[in-house]
Amino acid sequence: MTFTTTDLTPLIGTSVATDKETLVSGKSAAELRTLLEQRGILVFPQISMNDEEQLAFSRTLGDVINQGENGIYKITLDKKITPSAEYLRGTVLWHIDGWADDIPARGSILSARVLSSIGGQTEFSNAYAAYEELPAEKKAQIAKLQVFHTMAGTQRDIYDQVTAEQEADWQRHPAKLHPLVWTHRSGRKSLLLGSSADWIDGMDIDEGRALLAELKAWARQPRFVYRHEWTVGDMIIWDNCGVMHRVEPYPADAGRLMHRVTLEGEEAIA
Ligand code: OGA
Ligand code: MN
Repeated sequence: MTFTTTDLTPLIGTSVATDKETLVSGKSAAELRTLLEQRGILVFPQISMNDEEQLAFSRTLGDVINQGENGIYKITLDKKITPSAEYLRGTVLWHIDGWADDIPARGSILSARVLSSIGGQTEFSNAYAAYEELPAEKKAQIAKLQVFHTMAGTQRDIYDQVTAEQEADWQRHPAKLHPLVWTHRSGRKSLLLGSSADWIDGMDIDEGRALLAELKAWARQPRFVYRHEWTVGDMIIWDNCGVMHRVEPYPADAGRLMHRVTLEGEEAIA
């Protein structure tokens, strides 16, 4: 063992104490991947990696998506830095990344560069535990359901009023149908929800939305959630296939800046 761990809550989150050299060398990569799958997110307090180190470490865990600037996606609400910042306003709603993909990102590695003095804490919820703890009748009720995920779902709740132009923009992104329960190749099951989960196939819209709202509320109960209060230099990996996440609202002009590396998906939703 080349690192030591402390669990942050019983059901989600482990803090990992180690050094940059160990992480970048890849000698702990296999153990860290296993731990990530078990614990949903891993926190590396004040590991303070620069972009090259963060990329090199990420590459020991999987293939890196060529997103942002050479693999570094700057998560900020400042449009001068990240042109797609408008969509990032949706990160305040519980979500998964890559909802429109058949094979969503395996995970992301996020490091804190500039913090906001207001808000900006990130929360993660364990979607495996949320499924496993459902009552048997609920599991039976939802076992075969399929859910349409939409861009409008990820955006509409953050605006008091939606313009026709916004609606038209969101509609340009096709809806994507996914099972409500993801049966992973490991045999474990997780709830596949998030803001993108918009309506249930073959069910009355309102009835389906009410069921989704009930399950979303279930999944964000405190026992499934770890909330991270960032310090500059902290780095977190989340298992995007087994956790949902969201950020607490922060002002768009706060200067908050996180650098994200995203791992290529490895497993199709099934
Ligand atoms: C993301 C995201 C949350 C945050 O990068 O996918 O949702 O805390 N970020 O900025
Ligand atoms: Mn996200």
